[in-house]
Amino acid sequence: MVDEGTPTYEDRDASIDERVTDLLERMTLAEKTGQLTGVFSSDARAEPYGSHTLKDLESLVRERGIGWVTPFATGFSTHNSPAVVPRIANRLQRIAREETRLGIPLLVPVDAVHGHANVAGATVFPHNLGLAATWSRDLVRRAARVTATEMRATGATVNYSPNADVAREPRWGRTYETYGEAASLVGELARAEVEGLQGDTDGAGLADETAVAATVKHFPAYSAPRRGEDAAPNDVSMSTLRRVFVPPFERAIDAGAAAVMPSYSSVDGEPIHGSRRFLTALLREELGFDGLTLSDWHGVAFLHSQHGTASSLRDAVDQATRAGLDVASIGGREYADLLVDSVEADAVAERRLDESVRRVLELKFRLGLFDDPYVDPSKGRAVVGRDAHRELSLTCARESIVLLQNDDGLLPLEDGIDDLLVTGPNADSLDALCGGWTVADLSTDHGTTVRGGLDTVTDAETTVAFEPGASTRSTTDLDAAAAAASAADAAVVVLGENWYVHEFGPAAVTGPTGEFPTRNRLELPPAQTRLLERVAETGTPTVLVVVGGRPVAIPDEARLADAVVLGFYPGYEGGRAIADVLVGETNPSGRLPISMPKSVGHLPTVHDHDPSPRPLGEDAHPPAYDPLFAFGHGLSYTDFEYEAISCSTERHDPADDLAVSVTVTNRGDRAGTEVVQLYLRDVVSSRVTPVRELVGFERVSLEPGDRTQATFSLNPADMSVVHPDGTTVVEPGRFEVLSGGRSAEFTVTE
Ligand code: BGC
Repeated sequence: MVDEGTPTYEDRDASIDERVTDLLERMTLAEKTGQLTGVFSSDARAEPYGSHTLKDLESLVRERGIGWVTPFATGFSTHNSPAVVPRIANRLQRIAREETRLGIPLLVPVDAVHGHANVAGATVFPHNLGLAATWSRDLVRRAARVTATEMRATGATVNYSPNADVAREPRWGRTYETYGEAASLVGELARAEVEGLQGDTDGAGLADETAVAATVKHFPAYSAPRRGEDAAPNDVSMSTLRRVFVPPFERAIDAGAAAVMPSYSSVDGEPIHGSRRFLTALLREELGFDGLTLSDWHGVAFLHSQHGTASSLRDAVDQATRAGLDVASIGGREYADLLVDSVEADAVAERRLDESVRRVLELKFRLGLFDDPYVDPSKGRAVVGRDAHRELSLTCARESIVLLQNDDGLLPLEDGIDDLLVTGPNADSLDALCGGWTVADLSTDHGTTVRGGLDTVTDAETTVAFEPGASTRSTTDLDAAAAAASAADAAVVVLGENWYVHEFGPAAVTGPTGEFPTRNRLELPPAQTRLLERVAETGTPTVLVVVGGRPVAIPDEARLADAVVLGFYPGYEGGRAIADVLVGETNPSGRLPISMPKSVGHLPTVHDHDPSPRPLGEDAHPPAYDPLFAFGHGLSYTDFEYEAISCSTERHDPADDLAVSVTVTNRGDRAGTEVVQLYLRDVVSSRVTPVRELVGFERVSLEPGDRTQATFSLNPADMSVVHPDGTTVVEPGRFEVLSGGRSAEFTVTE
């Protein structure tokens, strides 16, 4: 029973709508603007963003009614112990609930982009590019449930994830945060992640203790910046924007994503944070999004300080608010006060703010925060990094490893190998397996390196020798590595990238010329190639393992090595997963979610490129798509044969769905998993359309000799020509479907 004096908004039996309306009516302008502003606590490295201590956060909540706090679990956070962070969340919630006039609880967002990985000991999954290599909606959904459960146990309620960016520029330092280069793969996995994060447990929705709000980011077209420079302008055409970059957001929104984060960049001359065309006309009116928009951290300030479309911070605040932005994620007191000025000066209508405040309050009610704002502090340690969670991260890592090359069937390594050498900068580093958006400087106790994994999976008779050979960009003792290789029966050389976020990383990685991990080159640093050369020269069979966050250009290295294995930041359990693939405990099923170019000069290298004319004849031009390893590529220890592909009809009505079946048999002698990929080509169309485009994918697991049929349903959107204004049409004429070297045709009727 509710007391007479209890306001409606505190009545758990009232509907969310009634509670929001009641609360909104009671709020002053200052209180409203507080709800539209966040603040974060950080260490000194975050100085340019304005660093705050926890005490600062407490007074901003108490005295200015700030509605969002990020006190832990970002790359800059000083607080990342699972025993401490739930207490921090509770302390701040208590101030909000008990020491502010209306007692509005806080939202606590974090970047849990591959697990709650900025909290020490939490489960760290492969980064998105690695998860994408599994091509498994199910694994992505389950991984996201674990992430949400661990977040919620520490008091965090909003995840700045999933990433629905389509990676079209591997020089870009955030490629590993994406689900790859194909709009349909990215869209399906972003949708699965939203479902996993937000849950639907017993109808409790977001109020469930295993659910958090998802933020799909960075809307739209952040991922093809000029020169690969993070946040650089994107001059994408409107039809490519509609065909490639927007559809994954549509799928995530369709799945009910609670929030959208705009991109820092400008598109077609409009910085997204200040663009009504993108934030309201496209996102809300056209795509029907009715959730919250949260600025990418300083995205509003950048309108003034970087893009030069606003004359002052106040002007930037006005622009963003009028464009449709709801929340300035780290605007702090300054932003909240400017927003008050804007309304008082009639630059922004209070009605406009009310829409945004309503959305924020709705989310707080949906998350159950008014009724149950605190977490049990013992939960942090108990839930974070649970065995069952780690087990799932190992499964994901195993499925994410891609076998790129296997000359003479070197892999899996024979039982008879007595002496194995493991060498290279990434052979014994956990940081390198996890990449950025993870607590850095990890002790190897947190997970398993490749060296540790090989120690675990080889039998007592096998010696696993280790020689570093090189750091990320300098050689150490090459002679020692070469001597150890000569003495070994096989050598595993683990090269690649180290830990980095956006475009910065430890100096040991960027090097004096800053060429790595930044964007001018995709080759490995010469020191690493030299190590591989010295090992391969010994004649000992050599496996190259590449660990990193993007498709590096390794044509020379692939020539030197007998076998090549790839892991896109496979996480804490990545070393074990790689070792399992090397010895054949796991039959590799990862497939490339992004093309691997031969060099920067070959870019762009995407499977769904448009056809190019050949003015000098077919043979006089380099091929338009010439990757070292193609999109979708990945070998197995068994052989899959594609026997047939067929369409449900040869003459297809444009309003209908079309069924396509692909028959696959396991012709080898081991059980294995194949990723059946379906591509479509619109043979004749009024606009230029891609030579092929991924439209469907299914994982099939087959015992030796078994056959199965993968069936896909193509809808009109899959077959449509996309016009620059976003309209789509299925045009009559011939189409081709392709899978595993087989193809079939159908004709769309008038
Ligand atoms: C990134 C976002 C991230 C935010 C908070 C920004 O710089 O672009 O993806 O969510 O920082 O860490």
